Amino acid sequence: MRALAAAEASWEEGRTWSLVYHAGEEHTAFLKEAHGLFFSENALNPMAFPALRRFEAEVVRMTASMLHGDDQVAGTMTSGGTESLLMAVKTYRDWARATKGITHPEMVLPVTAHAAFDKAAHYFGVKQVRVPMGDDVRADPAAMEAAITPNTILMVGSAPDYPFGQVDPIEDLAGIAADHEIGFHVDACLGGFLVPWAERLGVPVGVWDFRVPGVTSMSADVHKYGFAAKGASTILYRSAELRRFQFHVTADWPGGIYASPSMAGTRPGGSIAAAWAALQAIGQDGYLAMTEQILDISRRLVNGIRQIEGIELLGNPLLSVFAFVGTDVDTYAVGDQLEARGWHVDRQIKPASLHFMVTPAHAGIVDRFLEDLQASVDEVRAHPELATSGQAAMYGMMTTLPDTGMLEEIVLQTLDGLYSV
Ligand SMILES: Cc1ncc(COP(=O)(O)O)c(C=O)c1O
Repeated sequence: MRALAAAEASWEEGRTWSLVYHAGEEHTAFLKEAHGLFFSENALNPMAFPALRRFEAEVVRMTASMLHGDDQVAGTMTSGGTESLLMAVKTYRDWARATKGITHPEMVLPVTAHAAFDKAAHYFGVKQVRVPMGDDVRADPAAMEAAITPNTILMVGSAPDYPFGQVDPIEDLAGIAADHEIGFHVDACLGGFLVPWAERLGVPVGVWDFRVPGVTSMSADVHKYGFAAKGASTILYRSAELRRFQFHVTADWPGGIYASPSMAGTRPGGSIAAAWAALQAIGQDGYLAMTEQILDISRRLVNGIRQIEGIELLGNPLLSVFAFVGTDVDTYAVGDQLEARGWHVDRQIKPASLHFMVTPAHAGIVDRFLEDLQASVDEVRAHPELATSGQAAMYGMMTTLPDTGMLEEIVLQTLDGLYSV
């Protein structure tokens, strides 16, 4: 297993741009120790494990106060961003059914909102209405308002969104939601532990959290820029009354009265303990300093990318997530060239773009990456035929298929293959 681990993508050296949030060896060893202390405990029944109950309550409280929630804000921890978003959609569905009698619920969200909302729509029978983004690749408030119907239960904005790293115009969107008396969720899974500190450092992100009266819930992942162990997110509601719709109780089961706060039954104690430990150890000063470092690396990368002819950033990235498109070179072929130079890149569609998410692990690679990117663009410009080979050809083909059903089938077959080894 050690040999296999050593052969994985080298995220410690900043060669990957997603999936791992690494804050150094020492912090990782510390998280493992905290995780290990509660490795066997199960937060399914917090009454059995008072320490876990305390950790969870305090992680929720600290996160709520970081996001300017008052004492009324109430939440739970979950296993990750997806579970938090699933819970939000389920909560609003049940809230709207109970308080407004809505039986065919709909939610309005920008195309950029995370794919977990699509999952939630399928799981919980909520129709999703995806609205095209504005020219600034952010949610378009007028278009979002136009999509509201009497069945709309929820509107969503991101802070920031995954594809382009933009903070949606939360004040405008939440104001519209409040006028229509529907819920408004800010998906800060990615930015919950970064944007508060970026704001303090003067990044103009607008007012984007519980300070906005129309914001009725938020999600923030401790296992992303909170630098906790994986398996830790928070879902927060404006009030405990709203959170009530998240909970599940089975009161007539031979196995006893079963109460569960979220999707999972068994909930690993280690993830909750490590999240609490991360918040205690890093603290406000630590997060501020880490955000400063992350923003500095991001600015150097963004400025460097702006100097390279033939590629263009999407929107105006102010934070640590950004994407670029090829303007006179094939985007995916540039991706192939970066891969050939040892970088693991994430490819997006609509538009075809390459996606980057910065962490402290990238501190030492900025110049190297920019040189490799310049060389990759030069190579593709000199050899346009590279667009018709390698992964570029495959992605190019998949993204031009006339019908997404065909693409879905191809991906399902790939999943069948991956999970049948
Ligand atoms: C904006 C946003 N929301 C939700 C998620 C889902 O989080 P997870 O992968 O922890 O389920 C992500 C993941 O990157 C994200 O960027």
